[in-house]
Amino acid sequence: MTKTYGYFDDVRREYVITNPATPFPWINYLGNEDFFGLISNTAGGYDFYKDAKFRRITRYRYNSVPMDSVGRYFYINDGGTVWNPGWKPCKTPLDSYECRHSMNYTRITGSKNGVEASVLFFVPLQTWAEVQKVTLKNTTNAPKHLKLFSYTEWCLWNAATDGENFQRNLSTGEVEIETASLKEKCPYTAIYHKTEYKERRNHYAYYALTNIRADGYDTDRESFVGLYNELSEPQAVLDGKAADSLAHGWSPIASHYIDVELKAGESRDFIFVLGYAENAENEKFDPRPLANSQLLTSLGEKDHHIINKTHAHAIIDRFATVEAVDAAFAELCALWDELLSKFQVESTDERLNRMVNIWNQYQCMITFCFSRSASFFESGVGRGMGFRDSNQDLVGFVHQVPSRARQRIIDIASTQFPDGGCYHQYQPLTKRGNNDIGGGFNDDPMWLIFGTTAYIRETGDYSILDELVPWDNQPGSEVSLLEHLRISFNHVVENVGPHGLPLIGRADWNDCLNLNCFSNDPNESFQTTGNKNEGSKAESLMIAGLFVFCGRQYVELCRARGLEHEANRAGLHIEAMCQAVEKYGWDGAWYLRAYDYYGNKVGSNENEEGKIFIESQGWCAMARIGEEQGLPEKALDSAAELLDSEHGMVLNWPAYTTYHIELGEQSTYPAGYKENGGIFCHNNPWVIIAQALAGRGNDAWTLYKKIAPAWIENQDLHKVEPYVYCQMVAGKEAAKPGEGKNSWLTGTAAWNWLTVTQYILGIRPTYEGLEVNPCIPADLKEYKVTRKWRDAEYVITVKNPNGKQHADQPTVLPYEPGKHEYTITL
Ligand code: BGC
Ligand code: NOJ
Repeated sequence: MTKTYGYFDDVRREYVITNPATPFPWINYLGNEDFFGLISNTAGGYDFYKDAKFRRITRYRYNSVPMDSVGRYFYINDGGTVWNPGWKPCKTPLDSYECRHSMNYTRITGSKNGVEASVLFFVPLQTWAEVQKVTLKNTTNAPKHLKLFSYTEWCLWNAATDGENFQRNLSTGEVEIETASLKEKCPYTAIYHKTEYKERRNHYAYYALTNIRADGYDTDRESFVGLYNELSEPQAVLDGKAADSLAHGWSPIASHYIDVELKAGESRDFIFVLGYAENAENEKFDPRPLANSQLLTSLGEKDHHIINKTHAHAIIDRFATVEAVDAAFAELCALWDELLSKFQVESTDERLNRMVNIWNQYQCMITFCFSRSASFFESGVGRGMGFRDSNQDLVGFVHQVPSRARQRIIDIASTQFPDGGCYHQYQPLTKRGNNDIGGGFNDDPMWLIFGTTAYIRETGDYSILDELVPWDNQPGSEVSLLEHLRISFNHVVENVGPHGLPLIGRADWNDCLNLNCFSNDPNESFQTTGNKNEGSKAESLMIAGLFVFCGRQYVELCRARGLEHEANRAGLHIEAMCQAVEKYGWDGAWYLRAYDYYGNKVGSNENEEGKIFIESQGWCAMARIGEEQGLPEKALDSAAELLDSEHGMVLNWPAYTTYHIELGEQSTYPAGYKENGGIFCHNNPWVIIAQALAGRGNDAWTLYKKIAPAWIENQDLHKVEPYVYCQMVAGKEAAKPGEGKNSWLTGTAAWNWLTVTQYILGIRPTYEGLEVNPCIPADLKEYKVTRKWRDAEYVITVKNPNGKQHADQPTVLPYEPGKHEYTITL
């Protein structure tokens, strides 16, 4: 029996959740530049500034019971009945509930006993704050007397130490409150979080009720909640009035209390702003004495470190009226009109339109912003921005805001080492490579070529190649970005093994295929522990395919720049790699996956488990290695036969059932999960692209639909959000095939974007022009794409009257500013 939890409202670009008890919290992201929030359909989640580890603003309890605990909660006490518009934490049954997630905003509406409460959450453009507009409406024909409480819990900035160092944390909390004692002077109520501000921090946070003054407040968790109460029964809310508490150590929170009278039919708006601000070192403190009786601080009269609140005041003033909030919201929506308008498809398939026009593009923006750092599966402390991840995310985003993609490429390249190797991750706040993770993942360098060439094809901006970019952020070490690309290419050439195939290093794209790790200590991380590279014969067919595919992009770029000599040099290495794959990388019916440390085959029919892997089928077939002998087609047939399933293609088959020390983390996962036989959605599009390049339009389409969220039928089984891709869906050997996990932050978004727009619909920017080369299901008879490309707009109608699966040959539309219409008949 399948329950439904919501539906798509395409006109408003919203996903509407109608049942709050979703099979897992279904979340959304607020903000798309510096200030961010994660918000679930019951208003759980947290905010941070740039970096979810180092600048966590509000607290969230990962892996807590109950699920999804702490967020930005509003409580309503209506004559003793206490409820939340988003159902949690009280879980009082509501008369109606709806959560609308959309492009960087979420609106949650609940009603109970004739009161409707609707909260709009968003981060205004270029603003370091989340705005919450609460609308309370009395839908009865009698007056209502309500008590409204806000609630959020401060995180002590570093999300890692916030969760472990309690001997310190419980003594450091400090706050300030601006409120009503001098009524005429303070028309709002603001609570400031200033833990560690008097010493080394130059930043503070605040939570303000901006359009009226509160009737009370709390800043100390114990006073508001009660030491042994749950968040579903906060003492202050049960009492119907705030305790006006001042936090001093223990756990600082922020809560406003408002006494609300609503006439019959009346509606009122309350504006809350949850923000972050930084002050220059010499402007940190307010020079005025404390004798400011509207200000309360944790230390009272002894406090000589009053925050200079100029920045917060400006934001509080700016959002003091409903009109200002509505205008900022309209600006955000207008930005999304603009971003999404760069690529729009009209077809008879509404699910295709929905993915392409709305949700896939939106997810690409989110993965661009966060890489793999902060989601409901990524706690925000362990992973910064991945080198390979960010390069791949770029290709889904570059058409939206090319200038931000450009900056990202420079940031990423700046973390590279002089030999072309790369820090595997860097921290978004500092943009520095992460020493804890280090480098040695030998696929990393090629991804820089992948990302940079996508950027140039999109923009025509070759000047990026001349940008001076340091090695490992060391001033004085700068060379041109083009030089970074050359050295990236060479990194593969210079690191080949006994078969002339690329040495894998720590791992390739599959982080869990650790062929040199040999770990038997559970306290070691597979990702970071010392590797036995000396004497290693471990080679990767995935990197071989990646090298040939992206290497050709490098050659093409060199040609476009007139660098014939370099293009020819690179071409020879690519040729040699193709020969090595044909000679040593073909297993008879599919491409091998790797050679292990000892030179034994991985992903071969000779193996008992892990006979065939998806990554090398995808990449070597995308690179069309062994085309003359039909190897790509044979590999695709084998993948269809052995890897495919109802929910998509699994990563390897059969999954490993025992730990193989020579294979590493992959073989630690139970069969059917993650990199061990899971449907790792990220790599399905590699196969889809390979199918498209083989002209197999029906096959490409069938696999595309298997993993695209718009086609999910069973939401209970799938569990995670039905509007975005997840990293992994349990594979055919798992206990519950089809169960999704790790939603939102996955390269799947960018890869499917590339797949559907450039290889299925077939609209692909090239150095020469916009190439149109569809590879579609035979029954797709017509579609129209509007593509804004550089300063031009192309309206392309593709007609397929004879039910073909691909074009006979690509059409290249020359680049010319202005609006152009074309019709192409297959
Ligand atoms: C996960 C991978 C991930 C890696 C690095 C592994 O446990 O399975 O998907 O890339 O950790 O964090
Ligand atoms: C997730 C990581 O972020 C990504 O870099 C990696 O390629 C995949 N897992 C596969 O292991």
